[in-house]
Formats: sequence, structure tokens, C-alpha cells
Amino acid sequence: MNTMIADPETYFQRLLPERSAQLKRLETEAANEEIPIVGPVVGELLYILARFGRARRMLELGAATGYSAIYLAAAGRDVKGYLVTLESDPDLARRAEANLAEAGLDGHARVACDDALAWLERTDERFDFVFMDIEKEDYIKTLPRLENVIIPGGLLVADNVAFKDADPFNRAMFRSPAWRSVSLHALLPGHSPRYDGLCLAVHMA
Ligand SMILES: C[S@@+](CC[C@H](N)C(=O)[O-])C[C@H]1O[C@@H](n2cnc3c(N)ncnc32)[C@H](O)[C@@H]1O
Repeated sequence: MNTMIADPETYFQRLLPERSAQLKRLETEAANEEIPIVGPVVGELLYILARFGRARRMLELGAATGYSAIYLAAAGRDVKGYLVTLESDPDLARRAEANLAEAGLDGHARVACDDALAWLERTDERFDFVFMDIEKEDYIKTLPRLENVIIPGGLLVADNVAFKDADPFNRAMFRSPAWRSVSLHALLPGHSPRYDGLCLAVHMA
């Protein structure tokens, strides 16, 4: 008989992807300083999605200390791509820069200390992969610009879509003919919070 794994929370908690001592240190720092990071499961998912899609032009909105940026830039390094990551807090932007350099990824990532919404308004760069992880109430405001900035066929991954503030974004995404999207609600060990939603959306036009 095909039965389910008993206590999947404990079971999958033990199957965390391997990661470097640096990433483990950043996880400890994030826990101590209450910095919400994606953790090893979503970090690995970002690497896999970017690497599978051979994403060469990646953008991250919300770097914090550079934890998720390290996964994305590592995928970029494998395909001669690069990551631009935006962080509005100058101290965090400096830490993200230092952490990317420590990981040997500074040749594949650029940290810009800027407001993501203002930056999106100004940029004429185009991206094939965007990871969004800023204030959830701002997600809806980014959508019109992301439709210009992400190439047709490009991927948007939005974190924390189970937060109430993401509701306008979720509804707009659900209705929009410009995107083909799916939202997953799952146990995400090491993610802040541990149960949350992730939206994956392909730009259709
Ligand atoms: C959830 S944390 C990012 C965590 C990071 N992606 C990770 O998993 O390692 C959100 C970050 O976005 C930054 N942020 C919030 N609103 C922003 C904005 N409008 N522009 C740029 N950064 C912003 C915050 O300062 C914070 O460091």
C-alpha cells in the first residue's frame, strides 16, 4: 500500500540541502538579527530555477545580507551570467557586497544601494529572471514596470505571497493575461516564515 511519510515536517527538516560554512553563518546571523531570509530550501530552488533556465541577466529586489543573492549569483557564474541586486539599507547593501565577495561571486553580482521602485522606473536594462523580496505591499506597484523589465518568456519569482500585504499582487497576477503564474503554499524549512507562499510567473508578452 502506498502510504505517506509520517511526520513530514520532521522528515523534510532533516533533508536540508548541503551548503557552505558561509551560508550557515549567514543563517545564524539572520536568526540572531531577525533578518528574514529565504533559507536553504528556497535558496536551492532559486539556484535550480536560474540554472535550469540558464538565466544570464538576473535581478533581485531586496538583498538584505546577500544570502539569496549568493545562490542566484552562483547560478549566474555557471552560465557566464550576472546578478544585479537592490537593497535600500546602506549597511545591509555593504554586507551583501562583502558576502558576495567572500563567496567569490563579486565578478557575477553587483549590489546597488537603491530603492527598488525608483530603480525600476529608471532602468532600461532587461532581465530574464527576477526574484522579488521587498516589502510585500510594494509588490503590486512593481508589476507594471516588471512587465517592461522582464523579457517575454522570462521568470518572476515572488517570495512571501502568503502575507496579507501581497493580496493585491496575488489577485492582479491571477487576472493578468501578461503572466502565466502559479502560487505554491508549502513547508519551507529555514525560510522566514517556515510556512509561506511562493509565486512563479512566466512573462507571456
Ligand atoms: C526579506 S529581506 C531580503 C532577504 C534576502 N532576499 C534573502 O533571502 O537573503 C527584504 C530586504 O529588502 C529591503 N527592501 C525593502 N524595501 C525595499 C525597496 N523598496 N528597495 C530596496 N530594498 C528594499 C529591506 O531593507 C530588506 O533588507
